[in-house]
Amino acid sequence: MNERARIDTEKRAPKRGGGESPARSAADFVPARLSIKSLRTAAAGCTGCDLYKRATQTVFGEGPSNATIVLVGEQPGDQEDRSGHPFVGPAGRVLERALTEAGIPRHAVYITNAVKHFKWVARGKRRLHQRPREGEIDACTPWLAAELRLIEPRFLVCLGVTAARAAFGHSVRLKDHRGKLTATPLSPNTFVTIHPSAVVRLREPERTREYALFVADLNGLRDLAAR
Ligand code: URA
Ligand code: SF4
Repeated sequence: MNERARIDTEKRAPKRGGGESPARSAADFVPARLSIKSLRTAAAGCTGCDLYKRATQTVFGEGPSNATIVLVGEQPGDQEDRSGHPFVGPAGRVLERALTEAGIPRHAVYITNAVKHFKWVARGKRRLHQRPREGEIDACTPWLAAELRLIEPRFLVCLGVTAARAAFGHSVRLKDHRGKLTATPLSPNTFVTIHPSAVVRLREPERTREYALFVADLNGLRDLAAR
């Protein structure tokens, strides 16, 4: 096989998840006609990876379909999984407070997650958040890509490295991109900052310090959006 043919074959070869079954993804479920409603309805039935099996429901993005800013978290947490809405738990409260301090009203932005189902392990009666694997992030990215095609925001804001992986298409380090605009496959203006859950997990005095840095990033974003 010549080099060109080999590369082509590799590209077309189905990716394998765990060695046996061909990788699935959300791409098989994204409707041709895009509207927030059609996306939300289709996503509710997504079985593009195994995470739907143990979650209560798909938690889709929410906010105005003409938003200037789209914020992307990692995945729904325990409370989001139960309620069906993104960022309604502890991380959501920190996010909302930080947005308010930065003069960005929450209701003006569209808020979603890189992965739309809650991944967890049982610890006693509690459901502990588990980080999604790269394959799970990649499987779910077609939903985020569709949300962005529909909304066409000026800014895509990645809260943490999971969202950044979805935007960049590969793993990145927060410190390499934090507070800056980068062109990615998902948006010409991709902005990266920390995840509010990272603030929630810290003890004082680090917590206050990281929260202040988070607000500072959002202030920078507000200034970019005002230009
Ligand atoms: N953390 C996230 O990344 N997303 C949510 O919706 C809630 C917590
Ligand atoms: Fe589909 Fe994403 Fe849920 Fe996996 S996590 S089943 S790709 S919506």
